[in-house]
Amino acid sequence: MSAILTSTRAIEIHDAPAQSGLFITQPYEQYSEENHEAWRRLYARMLPKWELYANPHFLKGIGALSLDPQRIPRLDDVNRFLRPLTGFRAKAVSGYVPAFQFFDCLRQREFPTTITIRRSDQLDYLPEPDIFHDIAGHVPMHTDPHFAETLMRFGECARTAAKLDAPVEQLTSIIRAMARFFWFTIEFGLMRHGGGLKVYGSGLLSSYGEIERAIESPSVQRYPLRLEWVINQGFEIDHYQPLLFIVDSFEHLYELVGELEEWMVQGHLDNVAPGEPLVREEDLLSFRAD
Ligand SMILES: [Fe+2]
Repeated sequence: MSAILTSTRAIEIHDAPAQSGLFITQPYEQYSEENHEAWRRLYARMLPKWELYANPHFLKGIGALSLDPQRIPRLDDVNRFLRPLTGFRAKAVSGYVPAFQFFDCLRQREFPTTITIRRSDQLDYLPEPDIFHDIAGHVPMHTDPHFAETLMRFGECARTAAKLDAPVEQLTSIIRAMARFFWFTIEFGLMRHGGGLKVYGSGLLSSYGEIERAIESPSVQRYPLRLEWVINQGFEIDHYQPLLFIVDSFEHLYELVGELEEWMVQGHLDNVAPGEPLVREEDLLSFRAD
């Protein structure tokens, strides 16, 4: 029943001889009707939530990309609309992208994009990214010039980190700090809007259960983003987030990325609090390879 491009069976793509390597061609014909149905249901459920809780840049982006609510998008079609706006493009990947390569893609206005989709009986929760998270959650944000610049700037930070040639313990701490910053902004960030808050983080924008909770629930803590807090704050990926951080605008976020880089160069990220996320060895090595 499961099709090849359902997330749990993504390994089959890795094994295809014509698809060796990290960057692949989206094997579009392999999506099953069940896969398209999963997309259709995910999109239909999220649309009314986006209208209530997503920031206006995202809503504009959804319109600009002309995503088909009925079918999994072809990345080529998405890019046809996206590239003229900010130069960004979605690039299909076969699996996990080591941290440095991921950030360095952002620097080059490329977004490594998962092309598998979650199983239709697991629409609510998936710990790893899938094409709905990446294309419907992230890519609409990439249509906004300020946000696109911020992502590129973050990619430059990774390059700065690699050039420091720091010993393993320090580099681990720097990567952990960057991952925490990315998590609490790009993935789970909130932004001021009028007198209230809107969602701009893609983890929230692609989660039917969490987007409303992030804005409405009294049990979620929401605080203005402070760099010294975020870089020391662990997070867990397997449940709803109890703590979220607020930025004023994308200009504010851009400034924060610059500050993060300054702190990195000054050594302030060398000893951040231990804990989540764990830094994989392949992530560490990726910062050495360039
Ligand atoms: Fe993501």
